[in-house]
Amino acid sequence: MEQNERGVWGSRLGFILAAAGSAIGLGNIWRYPYVVGENGGAAFVLVYVTCVLVIGLPVLIAELSLGRRTTLNPVGAFRSLSNSKAWPWVGYLGVATGVGILSFYLVIAGWTLGYIVRTLIPTTEDFTQFVANPVEELGYFLGFLCLTVIVVLGGVEKGIERWSKFLMPALFVLLLSLISYNLTLEGSSAGVEFYLKPDFSKIHGSTILAALGQAFFSLSLGMGTMITYGSYISKRENIPVSATAVVLSDTLIALLAGLMIFPALFSVGMEPSQGPALVFNVLPRVFELMPGGAFIGLAFFVLLAIAALTSTVSLLEVPVAFLVDERKWSRKKAVSIIAAATFVVGIPSALSQGSSELLTTMQVAGQTGFLSLMSHLFSNLSLPIGGFFVCIFVGWVWGTKNAVEEIKLGTGETAQRIFWGWELLVKYVCPLTILIVFLNIFGVFG
Ligand code: PFF
Repeated sequence: MEQNERGVWGSRLGFILAAAGSAIGLGNIWRYPYVVGENGGAAFVLVYVTCVLVIGLPVLIAELSLGRRTTLNPVGAFRSLSNSKAWPWVGYLGVATGVGILSFYLVIAGWTLGYIVRTLIPTTEDFTQFVANPVEELGYFLGFLCLTVIVVLGGVEKGIERWSKFLMPALFVLLLSLISYNLTLEGSSAGVEFYLKPDFSKIHGSTILAALGQAFFSLSLGMGTMITYGSYISKRENIPVSATAVVLSDTLIALLAGLMIFPALFSVGMEPSQGPALVFNVLPRVFELMPGGAFIGLAFFVLLAIAALTSTVSLLEVPVAFLVDERKWSRKKAVSIIAAATFVVGIPSALSQGSSELLTTMQVAGQTGFLSLMSHLFSNLSLPIGGFFVCIFVGWVWGTKNAVEEIKLGTGETAQRIFWGWELLVKYVCPLTILIVFLNIFGVFG
């Protein structure tokens, strides 16, 4: 770390855990359930899983190989493999998207801190009042930003990797226990049906875009996070195997989160399509019902906060790696300036949950409120667009032949057919699918 301000992962497992730590976060436990709820349940889940396997996994492999080949941040990676001045703009888009996502993600991450404090010091204030209190909203947002800064300043190995190691097993066990409890609640079977019995009439163009956006968001793709994380892996790393491990664990946690939420939601008689507040409205009600619920609630929100932290760290790492590599800034300067910018950009999101009438009720692009708009713009538009260009770049500019050479350094010559399938996906299937989803949204097919 010290020699060149960059660094490398300490071990193979360390890398997988850190990449999975980036992928697994609020996207799985906060965003996935409310997007499933807004898009009609089980049918959406099927489209989502298809997007993850057919588009997410190949794009993840593409990003990791691009990062490892160049050992650079996204802007530098595109620049170093092509002569055109246009490609680094895909990297810039990623850097901007990092700040954009971080700005609203930290607000939600702040809610987890708020819940921890509220469990320890009980109040009469309910969730709606809590999020509408500008002092609390901005305070917890800033608090989580500071936690992120502390970890990122620690650097790749000491900071990010160490944090990722303990989280997943604990989160996994807690999810399983909550699922088994929630399934015993009266009326929960309606939730199981909503979540697992597909009604295909609910699938529209916008559903598919939402599934695609959620796949990119959940796997941390399309903004260069995985290019940046790939730049810290060794040549011996088996990229396809690690990528598959990340995709499977991320998807498993999301699927389980749905199974935890929907039975409970139907049992307490709430609406599935209530948007970003969903998990924060449902779970505390369940914890109230449960014997020992206060303690379990505390454990849950602590783990959720840690899961969020390993993701916020990866979001901040993209603009920081860019400034350290390209502008030769010190890590400290890069982290401070990006953190300050993120705070400013995030203020309207923090105030959009009841503090400011205008920001809370504004309706743009089918979204209500500033935070939902940010989440839609950056996750559903910016990330798939970034992913599209990653495919075009790896498929046609750098070339899948070169990419496969890079990947083979860690896998050897085996599994030639797998490479062939991956090339087909990256060159044709992924970019064409993304393009069709977008053209459809813009009404090109009528
Ligand atoms: N994948 C993270 C989650 O699901 O919570 C969010 C995220 C992290 C998105 C990093 C994008 C990213 F680059």
